[in-house]
Amino acid sequence: MTTRLTLRRPDDWHLHLRDGAMLRAVLPETSHHFARAIIMPNLVPPVVTMADAMAYRDRILAAAPGVGLFEPLMTLYLTEDTDPADVAAAHASGLVKAVKLYPAGATTNSASGVQDFDKVRPVLEKMAEIGMPLCVHGEVTTPEVDIFDREAVFIDTVLDPIRRATPGLKVVMEHITTAEAVDYLRAGDAGLGATVTTHHLMINRNHMLVGGIKPHYYCLPVVKRERHRAALVELVTSGFERVFLGTDSAPHLKGDKQSACGCAGVFSAPVTLSCLAEVFDEAGKLEQLEAFTSLNGPAFYGIAPNEEQITLIKGDPISYPPELATENGPVVVFDPGCPLHWRFDDAY
Ligand code: DOR
Ligand code: ZN
Repeated sequence: MTTRLTLRRPDDWHLHLRDGAMLRAVLPETSHHFARAIIMPNLVPPVVTMADAMAYRDRILAAAPGVGLFEPLMTLYLTEDTDPADVAAAHASGLVKAVKLYPAGATTNSASGVQDFDKVRPVLEKMAEIGMPLCVHGEVTTPEVDIFDREAVFIDTVLDPIRRATPGLKVVMEHITTAEAVDYLRAGDAGLGATVTTHHLMINRNHMLVGGIKPHYYCLPVVKRERHRAALVELVTSGFERVFLGTDSAPHLKGDKQSACGCAGVFSAPVTLSCLAEVFDEAGKLEQLEAFTSLNGPAFYGIAPNEEQITLIKGDPISYPPELATENGPVVVFDPGCPLHWRFDDAY
């Protein structure tokens, strides 16, 4: 039985760090394990311009526990007013790695997102020209479309037309949740990648809704049927190269989640590596974990993988603190509801 696993230090290709007190509280939970992370721009107000991204990057670095130990990879929030020249300048700086597309109203702080996709054509064409990836929150927001169908409908009615109209545009299908998304990804070319979260590999909609509603399992895209979760596990453990970890770790204060209108988001950063090792171990595919956490993402983004290594050790079930304290109250940590046997070796 494998009891030690050494991997290149992982990266997180989709992370919400927020700002201010929340940023200070959650950043160490990521920087302790991960070398780099793609930082989501859905602040209030959003990170729209290169200047916004540079200022946010400075705030992240100021909050980081060790100088030079964690590298935030910045993104710009695509709006109908985004200037292609600003996007190109941001890309040329080397500090901004992607542009994020939120359909307006799709999720937390997405009000400034895109309604009319024709208005962002010039930006998409510029991005295809310079090789800058578009990270896509893939859900339609049409009220008539059932929330469990929003990802599959988005692929057919928005994503596929955008990709056909913009040859060469690199696209990351963010936090995919369905077998339909898995099929579309597999059928795509080298310019199409996807991230999968930790929680979508571990829970289905029964976990969220049977026996009482679990607000801490509510996220967007919402968790789906078991067959979709199984398709995601099969994808990430199969050795497929265009899929990589994007935790979508998204902290909200406990009171904002345990509410009559609870926020979407699962805070998984502290437990993510333990959870993933459990998933891959259960599937008998521990040898594929490093590709998912540490190799496939850098390859897609065209940057070198980390040289440093980490070790995970298997032993008795670990009990993690259920909450993380912030200056404004606690944030509940993702609890997958099963024992976790793999821990991060701090002594390595
Ligand atoms: O569950 C989610 N939370 N999904 C998102 O797309 C946004 C995120 C957040 O910012 O809280
Ligand atoms: Zn997200």
